[in-house]
Amino acid sequence: MTHKPIRKAIFPVAGLGTRFLPATKAMPKEMLTIVDRPIIQRVVDEAREAGIEHFIFVTGRNKGVIEDHFDRQAELEMILEKKGKHDVIKQLNDLLPGPGQTSFTRQQEPLGLGHAVWCARELVGNEPFALLLPDMLTQSPGDSCLKQMINNYNEKGGNIIGVEEVADSETDQYGIVSIKKGAENCWPITGMVEKPPLGTAPSNLMIMGRYILQPEIFSILKDQRKGAGNEIQLTDAMHSLMEMQDFHAVKHNGMSFDCGSRVGFLTANVAFALASPDLRNDFAKELRNLLDNLTSQAAE
Ligand code: UTP
Repeated sequence: MTHKPIRKAIFPVAGLGTRFLPATKAMPKEMLTIVDRPIIQRVVDEAREAGIEHFIFVTGRNKGVIEDHFDRQAELEMILEKKGKHDVIKQLNDLLPGPGQTSFTRQQEPLGLGHAVWCARELVGNEPFALLLPDMLTQSPGDSCLKQMINNYNEKGGNIIGVEEVADSETDQYGIVSIKKGAENCWPITGMVEKPPLGTAPSNLMIMGRYILQPEIFSILKDQRKGAGNEIQLTDAMHSLMEMQDFHAVKHNGMSFDCGSRVGFLTANVAFALASPDLRNDFAKELRNLLDNLTSQAAE
């Protein structure tokens, strides 16, 4: 059986980013850089690699610079042209989605992730879509995380949630799914809960910010009440949709970094720098020096 293709992706970027203040006072957290490109660029790259054709951003106040980032900068190009830096112009333009491939809508108040997704309903229409939370960056040896999920969707259809194992002591910080375990890395989901109190989580598989969802989620979100943290929660809506449709959990074969936390953000910078051929050796040397210094200080 063939399933409707996944052509569109939503990027909710309307959150306040309070954990990164003061950096995010005047700048969106999605524009913080991992090595040399903004977090949001890396997430859009993952979606493009997976074959996404239309990129829908749910933005809020102070987020205009994200729209500018995905546009050409005529003045900058003129200066680079004069300097003969044609390769840089090409590199910049290669990163851009094509004309008409981006849409921006507003979430006037950050009422929660579920509400942000609902704000994109008219732009998505009646077709399944991908949802990528820019907080989470992934690094995979082969196919991108979303591509691996789409491969599973093409076989199974329905709804797919990207999951990853976390320590038992961290299960209260994430949405958690329970599954019927099988041999591969794609399992039927039997339940889900948002930020369960420690000791009550049904498993240690956390929802890691990548989803493929059917459009019926929008009619559930429309009437939804506030849940955990007094926010309109996507997990609650998916829980309701699960009564009508199949959900599978997919564990990708790479690494993920929770860039919504400072440690995750810093670790992502290190991991992406070490994966970058022109930086790897020099940076590894500096990193070793720093760690050696730390060890000798601790020994004194
Ligand atoms: P978070 O709750 O992690 O992001 O939401 P935040 O609110 O920006 O961060 P802190 O906790 O204050 O530091 C996860 C993702 O969902 C988006 C955020 O922008 C982020 O990408 N989001 C969240 C919205 O777009 N709207 C919302 O109402 C809530």
